[in-house]
Amino acid sequence: MKIEDLKHEGLKKWVEEAVILMEPDGVEVCDGSAEEYDRMIQITLDAGLATKLNPEKKPNSVLYRSDPSDVARVENRTYIASEKEEDAGPTNNWIDPKELKETMSGLYKGSMKGRTMYVIPFSMGPVGSDIAKIGVQITDSPYVVANMHIMARVGTKVLDVLGTDGFYVPCFHSVGKPLEDGETDDGKWPCAPMEDKYISHFPETREIWSYGSGYGGNALLGKKCLALRIASVIARDEGWLAEHMLILKITNPEGKVKYITGAFPSACGKTNLAMLIPTLPGWKVETVGDDIAWMKFGEDGRLYAINPEAGFFGVAPGTNNESNFNAMESCKANSIFTNCGLTEDGDVWWEMIGHGAPGEEIIDWKGNKRPAPKTDKSPKGEEIAHPNARFTAPAKQCPCIANEWEDPKGVPISAFLFGGRRPSTIPLVNQSKSWEHGVFMGSITGSEVTAAIISDQVGQVRRDPFAMLPFCGYHMGDYFSHWINIGKTHDESKLPKIFFVNWFRKDNDGKFIWPGYGDNSRVLAWIFDRCDGKGESVDTPIGILPTADAIARPDGVTKEQMEELTKVDVEGWKKEIADVRKNHYPKFGDKLPKELSAQLDAIEERLNA
Ligand code: GTP
Ligand code: SPV
Ligand code: MN
Repeated sequence: MKIEDLKHEGLKKWVEEAVILMEPDGVEVCDGSAEEYDRMIQITLDAGLATKLNPEKKPNSVLYRSDPSDVARVENRTYIASEKEEDAGPTNNWIDPKELKETMSGLYKGSMKGRTMYVIPFSMGPVGSDIAKIGVQITDSPYVVANMHIMARVGTKVLDVLGTDGFYVPCFHSVGKPLEDGETDDGKWPCAPMEDKYISHFPETREIWSYGSGYGGNALLGKKCLALRIASVIARDEGWLAEHMLILKITNPEGKVKYITGAFPSACGKTNLAMLIPTLPGWKVETVGDDIAWMKFGEDGRLYAINPEAGFFGVAPGTNNESNFNAMESCKANSIFTNCGLTEDGDVWWEMIGHGAPGEEIIDWKGNKRPAPKTDKSPKGEEIAHPNARFTAPAKQCPCIANEWEDPKGVPISAFLFGGRRPSTIPLVNQSKSWEHGVFMGSITGSEVTAAIISDQVGQVRRDPFAMLPFCGYHMGDYFSHWINIGKTHDESKLPKIFFVNWFRKDNDGKFIWPGYGDNSRVLAWIFDRCDGKGESVDTPIGILPTADAIARPDGVTKEQMEELTKVDVEGWKKEIADVRKNHYPKFGDKLPKELSAQLDAIEERLNA
């Protein structure tokens, strides 16, 4: 399709202006067809950017290797450019929107020379549903077009819904690597140097401008940029929630169903929990979403969640048939792999895939030939696959996708989970005493930083409130207030119950105490029962904990370990509270809701009693 075929005058004008600025060789409006997907892949194959995988191993699938500087989200190059600096708050980078647009217009000038501009109309959420939001992304990356085909609903059907004057979020994206006459990428992943990368959001005008990166959340603009940063602002204005949460459906042995969402920071187990296979007999888990939840109140006063995405952009390392069989099945065909190893027989390989690599040699994520590993472990820093290597797979290929995953009504939520990687102090599971106590728990969420972000803090614990630190499009103190207000303006008995979980406690040897993965179903079962007012529990200063034998013990976990996982570490918690008081809450100044400082005081008092 051509620009002339666009029926939406505003959209047509916006694209025409972008063409003048970015100077592409040609323009193509994406229709979302299978032919288009295949053509995008072929263009990258011809440019030496992609490797076709062996169709007997991974039918219709390809592998990409990105530039070593472009392997994850870049938080220190991500901006919330609100009109006023204080509206971005202390946890976001801010530049005056006018100044930022000037700088970026300079970078966009001629940035698509030698390339085609693709115009991708996309819908986050089922096309045409009331809760869906439409975006239009302009990009010069066929890799991005192909990924967007999987991750969102794209093409002509979206333009039909948009009509002649519908609302859309305009999203600029350029990898920032114009080509000279006759030049091709010739096997080199195009991107701009770090200091020229910008992932920018203009919350008041609902615009996204991304420049210089081709990777994941920096470049697939429907995901973190639209469905979280921009949507969180819209949700605040309209009284709903846009959250970094998985959505799962759980059925107990009696056939009773509940839906649970969970917010864990990047690479902390959302995809795994959403698809887990319970080790607890008779229980069943199915997937509604693995990364983002949009939640609105129904007429019955309950909160209903939809998954705005259509695919999974999942962490590859650590995924295997034991840990996440359903993810392995989801990406067994028609998938895109980025920064995985390539085996001699034309398959992908990564650390903890469950087996060594076949043959003599393997090609690592940097394109170097290495001896094929005999086990699935590699020393830190010498990995075959980058620790943030990813698969892009259609959600409909997931064997445990719930029937209702595309229901525009959404699913009614019974429980919210918060969690992160905490080697000490935080128990396996802890139920909040009230909504406000639950909001307090969300607000102090912390985790070891993972490879999902380019940062020198990887491995250190940082506070990541609600797992939204990098994704909240406005002042985090106002975000806390939004959550507090939801409790004040709704019937608390109908709101989801709130739980804090931690699968990542370590023993003195640095080994995980809790086996995690499928055994997390044991904790889900307790949560399920607690939502019905059942489940053995004790009221403690930090919250409602399971008794040591309330959760069925997995193989290999001793009674002592279970006690360790479910006890209150009073000294550890005193330090936790002191750290929140000294280093975390002061960041929010007078935007910190008084309800949260009251919760902090109350816990401290209970710990000292
Ligand atoms: P994003 O896509 O970045 O938002 O990540 P995510 O939250 O979906 O994380 P994911 O489920 O992909 O897990 C990331 C890493 O954590 C993988 O290497 C998993 O193997 C590991 N992991 C997931 N669940 C568990 C668990 O229960 N225990 C342990 N020890 N590791 C886990
Ligand atoms: C995350 O980092 O939380 C992800 C991957 O889900 S990305 O799409 O790159 O944001
Ligand atoms: Mn994520």
